[in-house]
Amino acid sequence: MVKDYLDTNDFTKEELLDMVDLAMAMKKSIKEAGTYPQLLKNKTLGMIFQQVSTRTRISFETAMTDLGGHAQFYGPGTIQLGGHESIEDTARVMGSLVDIMMARVDRHKDVVNLAKYSAAPVINGMSEYNHPTQELGDLLTMMENLPEGKKIEDCKLAFIGDATQVCVSLMFIASKMGMDFVQFGPKGHQITDGGLQVENKVDLLAIGKANCEVSGGTITISDDIECIKGADFIYTDVWYGLYDEEVEGASYMDIFYPKYQVTMDMMNFANPNSKFMHCLPATRGEEVVDEVMDDPERSLCWVEAENRKHSIRAILAALCPQSPVNEAVAAEAAREIDAALAKFGKTARA
Ligand code: CP
Repeated sequence: MVKDYLDTNDFTKEELLDMVDLAMAMKKSIKEAGTYPQLLKNKTLGMIFQQVSTRTRISFETAMTDLGGHAQFYGPGTIQLGGHESIEDTARVMGSLVDIMMARVDRHKDVVNLAKYSAAPVINGMSEYNHPTQELGDLLTMMENLPEGKKIEDCKLAFIGDATQVCVSLMFIASKMGMDFVQFGPKGHQITDGGLQVENKVDLLAIGKANCEVSGGTITISDDIECIKGADFIYTDVWYGLYDEEVEGASYMDIFYPKYQVTMDMMNFANPNSKFMHCLPATRGEEVVDEVMDDPERSLCWVEAENRKHSIRAILAALCPQSPVNEAVAAEAAREIDAALAKFGKTARA
């Protein structure tokens, strides 16, 4: 298994499913039995946030507490990052002070550099390119809500709207799983035509297609609504997000509304049993209507939000290094601590 989780494409299908299994087991232990496995006792997570967050920040912090560890939050302007201390030096220092790190960054290359120079594992808490922890939670949500008689590789996932980093990350994870992935979106905002504003442009579709060659999945990108027919999961994201730049000319509403708004008619056109997903936050009345978001049978977006925490526990437990156990050294160190403390008139057992 790789040291870091920077890109939704980093893990194999088997590794992703192993993490989902771990997430499900811990969810059951904590939610159904009230038993918190203390897997990260005495471990510290350092959390860098260059952008705002509700779900990601709360999930990481709560997950560490649940597993017996602790999380430190560094918001914009609270550590010496981006001033005269470089990302590389920050990574070297933080990587020796905490056990594991996560970062929500303005630029993907910053989280890549954090990981390169940090001895501690680094998790991408979202960049303009990728949102891998969102996708593990989404995979968990789909696995818990599979249509009767279907496996994950039998399912069709339709993303509606703009080629955000969530859309691209979904394409990566769906193609890894062998699913049929569709982006129904307007030209200029499709995965294939630069809809994603990211430095060092990569051929996103080529990555997805390489996954499909291994998994048997498919990828379809179209502005024809027929492409969503038969979808088991309908997913959308905001039309104007954290990383979008102001554009001259037509506003995003002119581009996306009403054709790409998720309504109950669209849900039923796809499949009368389709389920709704959204990474949140949503702009109600733009990319989705209340009737869909609040439908207790069709909407998974609230359980999806809760699953961020359950899946992030698994990522932390899988990636955080375990301290070596050496009883002989522990006994020797205890004697040395006692001897040193005696000079202050104290004992370790006081
Ligand atoms: N979905 C998601 O990442 O939400 P936050 O931006 O609130 O963390």
